[in-house]
Amino acid sequence: MSSEPTRGKPVRLALLGCGTVGAEVVRLLHEQAGDLTARIGAPLELVGIAVRRPGRQRGDLPVDRALFTTDALGLIKRDDVDVVIEVVGGIEPARTWIVEALRAGKSVITANKALLAEDGGTLHDAAADGGADLYYEASVAGAIPLLRPLRESLHGDRITRVTGIVNGTTNYILSSMDTTGAGFTEALEEATELGYAEADPTADVEGFDAAAKAAILASLAFHSRVTAADVFREGMTGVTAGDVASAKEMGCTIKLLCLAERGPDSRGAESVSVRVHPAMIPRSHPLASVGDAFNAVFVEAEAAGQLMFYGRGAGGTPTASAVLGDVVAAARNRLAGTRAPSESVYAHLPIRPIGEAVTRYHISLDVADRQGVLATVAGVFAKHEVSIATVRQSGREADATLVIVTHGAPDSHLAATVAELEQLDIVRSIASVLRVEGGA
Ligand code: NDP
Ligand code: HSE
Repeated sequence: MSSEPTRGKPVRLALLGCGTVGAEVVRLLHEQAGDLTARIGAPLELVGIAVRRPGRQRGDLPVDRALFTTDALGLIKRDDVDVVIEVVGGIEPARTWIVEALRAGKSVITANKALLAEDGGTLHDAAADGGADLYYEASVAGAIPLLRPLRESLHGDRITRVTGIVNGTTNYILSSMDTTGAGFTEALEEATELGYAEADPTADVEGFDAAAKAAILASLAFHSRVTAADVFREGMTGVTAGDVASAKEMGCTIKLLCLAERGPDSRGAESVSVRVHPAMIPRSHPLASVGDAFNAVFVEAEAAGQLMFYGRGAGGTPTASAVLGDVVAAARNRLAGTRAPSESVYAHLPIRPIGEAVTRYHISLDVADRQGVLATVAGVFAKHEVSIATVRQSGREADATLVIVTHGAPDSHLAATVAELEQLDIVRSIASVLRVEGGA
């Protein structure tokens, strides 16, 4: 604790939500009160906490129980509330609360990636209307300072690409499959037992959580409004132990990636492509060594070159660290009579369809091991202008498998290739189609 004297009148906080993240916000506010006061130049005072069940036991949380209420809107509207922290989640009523607070000129800190990705524009518009600050560092990659670098530090540069592992649950599962050779179901069970995966892991394993984060990152990186609906999304439930083994043979590992990149569309117009899907990446890629439930984001910018951000992307305490950083910034702004940088969407870049995204592919086919089969399969790739880089056959006769890796090709060309291969008698099944990212 610092002995720095208090210099200003308190900055008053309303907390909406006191679950995994909110409880840790309360704890850190209490434990670090002295230092926070010294850094801000005024004390922070928690004046109310809105929850669903005010009578619920909350362990040894260092807080006066009289602060709990179910009336979130009433709390937000109080004249003595300066800053509102929203850690409830979901679209409604969170959107209504945040808009109400911002329009009333109160600073808002939120970790709500789902809402920001679905309707961030409404929140930013309300912040502009109310002349208020909207901070959301915790919404992407938990504790990792990532949005402030994109929103401020890199504003003198031109970002070309953002590639990230932004979901801890799926990274734990894929890392475990890579290390132990386990299948998806077994690795998911382990992640659930260890508390990484939620009881309903759909948002994580189907890529919804990563897609929301991808939309937020793309909006900031490319100065354009990108929503979750603009993000191409493919989950990782189809990744098999065979895919992981095949990736290993190629010197690769499989990660659920979020990729946002700017570049020309098919007519040469500048555009943005945003996608979330499992992909093979070379083991030499900086993201390949990101294991366990960690997150990492690799940013490429014209002047800065390559930057890597790494750390804990989830969990109450790490996420509360990001929330508290935003609280300090918002409190300082209020005391100085200044504001956070407003939304920057001047570029208005359109979204490039997934069909135009150029990637390399790894395709595994179960085929009949007969003369001419390879030539027929290769002919289908050539017809759709997908160039083959390598072909490997394993097994014989009824058990033959062809593993084909292509050079870069538009997604629509690959889709047409796969559709035609599926119609061939000699192809018994297409075991997997995986994108290959990073490296030459
Ligand atoms: P929890 O489910 O643990 O907590 C939610 C809190 O909101 C609870 O305190 C609950 O009250 C309260 N609440 C729910 N509905 C209402 C309502 N209608 N009115 C008032 N209070 C309500 O969520 P998390 O703490 O895990 O997540 C909060 C936010 O942070 C979400 O947006 C999430 O996406 C984001 N986030 C979470 C991370 C994490 O690791 N958990 C990481 C990064 C972001 P009660 O306690 O009474 O049930
Ligand atoms: N379910 C998310 C994850 C929490 O696994 O990363 C953080 O957003």
